Amino acid sequence: MIELMIPTPRAPLVAAERKRLGAFYTPERLSQILTDWAIRSASDLILEPSFGGCGFLTAARRRLELLGADAPKKQIYGCDIDGGAFEFLAEALGRPIDHSRFLHKDFLETSALEDWPLLFDATIGNPPYIPYQSIQEKTRKDLIQRANIRGVKLGGKSSLWAHFLFHAVSFVAFGGRMAWVLPGSFLQADYAVNIRKYIARSFSDVVCVLMHQRFFKTEGTEEETVVLLAKGRGDYSSESAITFHDALDLVGLERIIFGWESGETVGQKLVGRPSLLSVDKKIARIYGELEKDNACIHLGDLVKVNIGLVTGANNFFVINEATKRAAHLDRNDVLPVLSKFKFAQGLSFSQYDYDLLIKEGERGFLISTAKMPDEGTGKKNGKKLVPSKSEKFGMRPAMKGFQMDFFQS
Ligand SMILES: C[S@@+](CC[C@H](N)C(=O)[O-])C[C@H]1O[C@@H](n2cnc3c(N)ncnc32)[C@H](O)[C@@H]1O
Repeated sequence: MIELMIPTPRAPLVAAERKRLGAFYTPERLSQILTDWAIRSASDLILEPSFGGCGFLTAARRRLELLGADAPKKQIYGCDIDGGAFEFLAEALGRPIDHSRFLHKDFLETSALEDWPLLFDATIGNPPYIPYQSIQEKTRKDLIQRANIRGVKLGGKSSLWAHFLFHAVSFVAFGGRMAWVLPGSFLQADYAVNIRKYIARSFSDVVCVLMHQRFFKTEGTEEETVVLLAKGRGDYSSESAITFHDALDLVGLERIIFGWESGETVGQKLVGRPSLLSVDKKIARIYGELEKDNACIHLGDLVKVNIGLVTGANNFFVINEATKRAAHLDRNDVLPVLSKFKFAQGLSFSQYDYDLLIKEGERGFLISTAKMPDEGTGKKNGKKLVPSKSEKFGMRPAMKGFQMDFFQS
């Protein structure tokens, strides 16, 4: 059983709630382009598994109307965990809401047992971008196991979108299509490699477009957007080649889709690193040349390159010398850390550089001890510590794996 909180209906989301639900709504034009591509006939059945602001649902209705469907609304199905999304739904498709077609529940809990058709001609949407730290541990384990049973290894660090995508594939009918707005991690994250392979085994043709336009800036996130288009659902014994492309804006995206549908070869087969698609073409070319140069080796061959520590509350856990003193913490209570890349100019970062940044009052200590204080009492070694509850600082479950300490009062 997957446990996710289902909020009750209410007004449009406040920022914190949006973040918790990963609710960043897709701009209308982008939803329409993807939907127009995904829906091919007036009789198509459509599923939007996390419909949110209903942009994709509205686009689907328009597309079906244009194709001549008699009752387009009856061909559209959806799901969202957020009760507020049902207010948008009433506006978009009118009342009364058909609750057998639109489910107020966790999509990951949906199955063939719903009052839905068994399969759909297209699934479209933009899944919640919720990092693994915000998914309950038990839920995470269940989701990983579920994918494992179907032969797909989704690691413990997979964001919710990856599980969503995986689950959504099982609703696509033979020959059907999928069109998704995904985060940049679809191309960059290690955990995404296997989901990409799974998509490549489940569809005959797959195109992936990295968008240079930032669509979610007004929603308070700089998240990169990757458009995933997959057609020809089937169970293939070998992987189709996903082709990658990049587009400056929606006009560029439309051009790529048009070319692809007209039989042109678009994009390039992925060889090497997808992350190179996000960097300037000139830089990517220089990188390519260096890679071929025998005098060069990868930095990763010499050292382990990691993204670093995720504290969940840097302002609290990463402190400067003055705060450390004020809190009576000694060197055993902290670890030296490089808190910002701007402090490491060039290729080296020495003890001298570190001492200098500490002297200048910058934050370079991560609070860290071997023992957590007792939950509830806020006491450790007989000293009173505040705050006593990790929740007070929005500490995420993954943080429990860290050895953290708290300030003395
Ligand atoms: C990135 S928004 C996208 C909304 C819509 N698909 C769009 O493109 O505008 C993600 C949506 O997922 C919903 N959501 C989050 N977790 C969910 C879950 N477990 N099951 C179904 N919907 C979920 C959120 O409420 C939100 O509406």
